[in-house]
Amino acid sequence: MNAGTLIAAYRAAGQGQVFAFWDSLNPAERAELAAQAAEIDLAEIAHLSRTLVLKSAGATGVSLDGLSPAPCEHLPENGGEAARWAAAKATGEAALRAGRVAAFTVAGGQGTRLGYDGPKGTFAVTPLKKKSLFQVFAEKIRSAGLRHGKPLHWFIMTSHANHERTEQFFAEHRFFGLDKARVHFFRQGRMPAVDFAGRILLETKSSLALSPDGHGGSLRALHRSGALDLMQSEGVDTISYFQVDNPLVRCVDAAFIGFHLQARAGMSSKMVPKAYPEERVGLFCRQNGKVVVVEYSDMPLVMQRETNPDGTLRYGAGSIAIHVIDREFARRMAAPAVAKAMAGSSSPAKSGTGEAVFGIPALPFHRADKKIATIDCAGRPVKPENANGVKFEMFVFDALPFADNSVVIETARADDFSPVKNAEGVDSPSTARDDQLRQAARWLRAAGAAVEADATGRPKCGLEISPLFGYDAGSFAERWHSLPIKPVVAEGLYLE
Ligand code: UD1
Repeated sequence: MNAGTLIAAYRAAGQGQVFAFWDSLNPAERAELAAQAAEIDLAEIAHLSRTLVLKSAGATGVSLDGLSPAPCEHLPENGGEAARWAAAKATGEAALRAGRVAAFTVAGGQGTRLGYDGPKGTFAVTPLKKKSLFQVFAEKIRSAGLRHGKPLHWFIMTSHANHERTEQFFAEHRFFGLDKARVHFFRQGRMPAVDFAGRILLETKSSLALSPDGHGGSLRALHRSGALDLMQSEGVDTISYFQVDNPLVRCVDAAFIGFHLQARAGMSSKMVPKAYPEERVGLFCRQNGKVVVVEYSDMPLVMQRETNPDGTLRYGAGSIAIHVIDREFARRMAAPAVAKAMAGSSSPAKSGTGEAVFGIPALPFHRADKKIATIDCAGRPVKPENANGVKFEMFVFDALPFADNSVVIETARADDFSPVKNAEGVDSPSTARDDQLRQAARWLRAAGAAVEADATGRPKCGLEISPLFGYDAGSFAERWHSLPIKPVVAEGLYLE
């Protein structure tokens, strides 16, 4: 599309302000602005503005009608059937041996709360060696490949802001021993921010205020980047999805994969029992016969505090953002965006409400009111102190209600979830470090070693176990027992 047509389309859509400084821009700046403007689906923005921005401030559009707790596969120690877990594990292991599984990390977030200037995956998290999140995942993925005799493909979704730095980090660390032909990076999509009247905001005279389209954008991005086609040609049909912020995550969990495959599910999830009623996690529920996640902020506190007769929380299944996704389900969920792209951006976009686009179900966008750096009508930078606009994001768990046979399994928080989100306090580098230390102490104790620890299980000395030495208590014990001379634990220990 040439610049004249683009400007005319923006004017016709009531978004002419985007080109307010056009006459004063040099050719390079014009090219930048035109390229960004051409990326935007104006019909989609108009629909989102109408349904999410102008309708009523703060409206979430989330319905709680007919909500009940989601059924869940409990761990054997919490009432689940051990035989079912063993069978699921065997199914998952067979899929891993057959090379049907790929790991997938969403790493496109901005990490604002952590206040770290760099891709979050490069943040140092382990207690002794200060390994980065990416290195921890790389070792887990490498270990799974070695165990099953089949190296895994690893897909990493970045953002426009952190893509180059992420690729560079892997190159500098020689891909942490992984075959670089099996590590694939791709950028997620972007959405423009709008003001409270639905007008697209400029960040500078020659650029839009663009931000990542949320982890839900991963399904579109998997498709657009060719990742799904690559998976297909490599015989991968199962995607193990996790967030970049969680060093404890089991990047590939055979039992989880097995439950998902046995159910022939489109998308499955892991849950942990909520630590306390007000914990800020999404909640697995059931609605219209399908599994859904309701964000804590969308569920009234009285509901969050409801209990079962045995005193446990009725809505107690917290989402830790770990999923298994069927490749073709991901393709179907990406299809509306693709169909729109093929039909041109003037198509009747309806994805803002999760309605069908061309008869295909689509992920809804959510509204987030934010402070957005922009410019005033004279082109001077404005750093707002209060929210001055709206960002649009998709959430991957909104795909769940479209999935058939969705499975939710329980996992032990101590072995799967300790995210690094905030600089201090809960979910911070120090809580994640302590949880890694506790895990090492538990595994050593279970293997028969003496470990001095405080009342919370935190060892008195520094301990770190590489996933290449042991990936769970059982594999750790096996390797530990095979050591001819046992190292002294009390002095601190790194095992690789
Ligand atoms: C999220 C979930 C919450 C869950 C919790 C578990 C949402 C809205 N909520 O909360 O239900 O209990 O994790 O830790 O997601 N990301 C991208 N691109 C984006 C935005 C995010 O790749 O555009 C990635 C981030 O890099 C990160 C992950 O998604 O890996 C989580 O994003 P974040 O915004 O931090 O989610 P939370 O609010 O912490």
